[in-house]
Amino acid sequence: MAFNFTNQSTLHAGIIMDGNGRWALGRGLPRAAGHRAGVATVERVVEAAPGAGIGVLTLFAFSSDNWRRPPAEVDALMRMLSSYLEKEVGRCVEKGVRLQAIGRRDRLAPGLCRAIAQAEAATRSGTGLWLRIAIDYSGRDAILAAARGLANLSRESLELALGPPVDLLIRTGGEHRLSDFLLWESAYAELVFSQRMWPDFGPEDLEAAVREFRGRVRRFGGIPAPTPRRQEAWLD
Ligand code: IPE
Ligand code: IPE
Ligand code: MG
Repeated sequence: MAFNFTNQSTLHAGIIMDGNGRWALGRGLPRAAGHRAGVATVERVVEAAPGAGIGVLTLFAFSSDNWRRPPAEVDALMRMLSSYLEKEVGRCVEKGVRLQAIGRRDRLAPGLCRAIAQAEAATRSGTGLWLRIAIDYSGRDAILAAARGLANLSRESLELALGPPVDLLIRTGGEHRLSDFLLWESAYAELVFSQRMWPDFGPEDLEAAVREFRGRVRRFGGIPAPTPRRQEAWLD
């Protein structure tokens, strides 16, 4: 069962990988150079995720609204996604990473669809990390599509159709918004915003975000359970 991936000790982290364009422009480079540097960050972050306590990692790579960008940038991003999937599939198998794409497939080029299908098939039995790449993804459309596919619509059935709840949601690039990412799944996500542009984000930043998460008290609408330390403090 896919949901065994999230338990007490491993987190579902979602990352809005933002800031590639500004990183490049700040260096006098074309935006595509920022996306290329962003792919290298993806490789480092995926490698570091299991060690940081992450069991499910969902990366926002291309939003359904990103089709609004100039065709040359969209093409460059699509080519990079295909080559990332083709290049990484072997390493994913080796490291036990189960790779999956979420989002619409009907608007993607056949070559990218093939790369996705091949990567998903080859990595199906991975149990070390469940890596979900969001491509042509919209949180609102995902909720609509999941709801439309359900005969018995309930909170539980919708949750099961969408995917595991997000524990930790990170956005790089200094913006403080969700931009249509994992809207339902992030109902109680802890939010961490990083000023770093995505190409500058590294394993140490991921670890710092997880530390920040571990220091937070999650209430889910209730009141925090008394911890031993709190009780001791009260008795003093
Ligand atoms: C994130 O970086 C990558 C995608 C959205 C595909 P951006 O391309 O949004 O970079 P900025 O926000 O313009 O700097
Ligand atoms: C969100 O970043 C999408 C991805 C990271 C893939 P955007 O750069 O597209 O978001 P906005 O336009 O700043 O909200
Ligand atoms: Mg952006």
